Amino acid sequence: MTMKPEKFFATCPRGLEALLADELRVQGAENLAPTYGGVAFSGKFELCYRVNLHSRLASRVLWRIGGGEYDNEEDIYQGSLSLDWPSLFSVERSIVVKMTAQKSPLKSLEFATLRIKDAVCDRFRDACNARPDVDIREPEIRIHAFLTATVCTLYLDTSGASLFKRGLRVQAGAAPINENLAAGLIKLSGWRPGVPLFDPMCGSGTILMEAAQIALNIAPGSGRHFGFENLARFDGNVWTPIKEAAAAAQLPATAQPIFGRDMFGSSLADARVNLEAAGLDQVIELKQGNVLEVPAPADHGVIVTNPPYGVRIGEQAELLEFYPKLGDWLKRKCAGWNAYILSADMELPKRIRLSATRRTPLFNGALECRLFEYKIVAGSARK
Ligand SMILES: C[S@@+](CC[C@H](N)C(=O)[O-])C[C@H]1O[C@@H](n2cnc3c(N)ncnc32)[C@H](O)[C@@H]1O
Repeated sequence: MTMKPEKFFATCPRGLEALLADELRVQGAENLAPTYGGVAFSGKFELCYRVNLHSRLASRVLWRIGGGEYDNEEDIYQGSLSLDWPSLFSVERSIVVKMTAQKSPLKSLEFATLRIKDAVCDRFRDACNARPDVDIREPEIRIHAFLTATVCTLYLDTSGASLFKRGLRVQAGAAPINENLAAGLIKLSGWRPGVPLFDPMCGSGTILMEAAQIALNIAPGSGRHFGFENLARFDGNVWTPIKEAAAAAQLPATAQPIFGRDMFGSSLADARVNLEAAGLDQVIELKQGNVLEVPAPADHGVIVTNPPYGVRIGEQAELLEFYPKLGDWLKRKCAGWNAYILSADMELPKRIRLSATRRTPLFNGALECRLFEYKIVAGSARK
């Protein structure tokens, strides 16, 4: 007997869809279809165990459980009521319903969300005379509805907390980037373990920690739980060997050529706490220093960093002075390095006065950014 493949949708930071599709392919996903903000794919149910455990780029993995055309909230209620919810999870599990929509004609998404919750509860009441509780903070089951102009698709979230929550970072720092975006920057840089990696404005150390996990083959989800563990379909006999294989493939936490600097002791203190908590303090070298003064830690390698960005007017003026100096530092101290700088400032190349060899559009949350690539050779071309 051949089982019909399950359909999934993995979300990710916008700009990383193609790289996420590569990751999913490695885990055995089929029918990959990258779209805005994520990738649709299919495979056996257990594929979602692997993707949740191993994906460094995904934010969530959603399992498609139903869907159909709709005109109004009543259609959404009836469509939701037609699903056999009690076969998907136990009535003891707390739930939440989330909705995202593109071009939906509905007046109130909140009301439509409520109608899905009603349908789920009504279906449970019919089956077992009880209904699941709603918990908006820490639900055990997340139901996700995605509306286009005409179609409502229903998913169960197999991730639980967002996948960028690796369960490693204890101190978030002042302006941290999400772990999956950090991993995306590293992938886009083409860095490979063994090559020196340098974040000279490392803040709480997110980029460094992601690089260390890649170098040591640490599965990003190895220290956390997932939403799929709360589903009726969950099979511990399948999950445990997948988890054990990942743990066995992990390399010992030996020193790597991964280097972090930050001017502020408080930022470095955050990074230290995080590295220690993750057992990576012996793997990465951290030192306090001003990027404009520190030497490069090796004669070649890859710089991956997100410099401070100005929100207030005073900060912007400071940054306008800072960027040309950063360009000078790259040219004077970093010949032989390729630098990847994430910035929301589209004028960065002009300010830094070096020619970018590549600009990759990315989103840091809602903030549109570019990852600027600079290949620094001795006497690098000045703009
Ligand atoms: C946007 S944050 C980086 C956040 C980091 N990627 C993380 O996830 O925590 C920029 C960092 O640059 C540091 N910084 C600012 N000016 C600096 C300088 N001149 N030299 C070194 N670090 C600097 C700040 O302390 C801050 O931690």
